[in-house]
Amino acid sequence: MSIKEPKIIRNKQEMRNWSRSMRSQGKTIGFVPTMGYLHQGHLSLITESQKHTQLTVVSIYVNPGQFAVNEDLSTYPSDLLGDIEKLKSLPNGVDVVFNPQNLYHYGEFGVMRRNFKDEKIVSCLEGEVGFGHETWVRVENLEKGMCGMSRPVFFRGVASVVAKLFNIVEPDVAVFGKKDYQQWKIIQRMVRDLDFDVKVIGSELMRDEDGLAMSSRNVHLSPQQRKQALSISRSLFEAKSAAKKGETICSELRRSVIECIEFAGGKIDYVEIVDQESLEAVEEIKNGVVVCIAAWFGKVRLIDNMEIDAS
Ligand code: PAJ
Repeated sequence: MSIKEPKIIRNKQEMRNWSRSMRSQGKTIGFVPTMGYLHQGHLSLITESQKHTQLTVVSIYVNPGQFAVNEDLSTYPSDLLGDIEKLKSLPNGVDVVFNPQNLYHYGEFGVMRRNFKDEKIVSCLEGEVGFGHETWVRVENLEKGMCGMSRPVFFRGVASVVAKLFNIVEPDVAVFGKKDYQQWKIIQRMVRDLDFDVKVIGSELMRDEDGLAMSSRNVHLSPQQRKQALSISRSLFEAKSAAKKGETICSELRRSVIECIEFAGGKIDYVEIVDQESLEAVEEIKNGVVVCIAAWFGKVRLIDNMEIDAS
């Protein structure tokens, strides 16, 4: 297998220059934004992206703007060198790893501020008047429910950083995982509403062999919690097969999912059965719904989902 060394770019101006130079040579660019600690789920997005464009950029950036003060920014796993090795081992490699060091203006004390227990600061970026970041993209309705309920600043942070990355990388195509179903829909809507010239592609959710949805956060699960967490995917497969056998009442399906996860020792954040486009809750199973779950196992919050059609 040939090993392709990706070009590592750490500066946003250099990234933009590279993209513009490639485009001027008639090349098309695919983009996969990530926060690193890559697993097969991330790699599958890259393979998907490579079906659509000649060149591929992967960004690795743990975005402080999408973490609230009480969340796991400081413990989010990272392994840049390991990530680059994984990217090199892909059959087609990748062309660029964008690992920006100057994405936001932090201000003099920006990084320290992260540790202050000032409840008014929702991310390390906002505390620095005159230096911090104050322009946010909000996708007002789609961001309200599910993950937006328990993580009120999360989606504005995601939409804003993705808008910045799109403006810097200027890709033709961007690939997002259906694992983060609400995120994918929010980015699609942002692109439509703000006329970004980017085609957004949703790529299938990848699971480990035992069914657990792959996630960078799985590394924080103890062996026992990992076993317990399998209740999430089990409950989703059971809901899908119950719907296939004719169960149409969503409250019944929700109840079984909740019971299964709680019995295994998980703490539910939400279980919602929603329309795949509007993300509004539905009462009866019809074509085009998705069951979305967030649940805690110890200090680890996991999300998962499954698309379901009427039988
Ligand atoms: P991250 O959690 O690193 O995920 C990067 C991309 O990989 C997302 O599109 C996510 O949906 C996808 N992904 C993660 N696990 C997956 C799995 N098991 N199967 C398929 N795809 C999977 O999502 C983010 O980073 C950030 O919010 C980001 C978009 C980069 C903005 O900061």
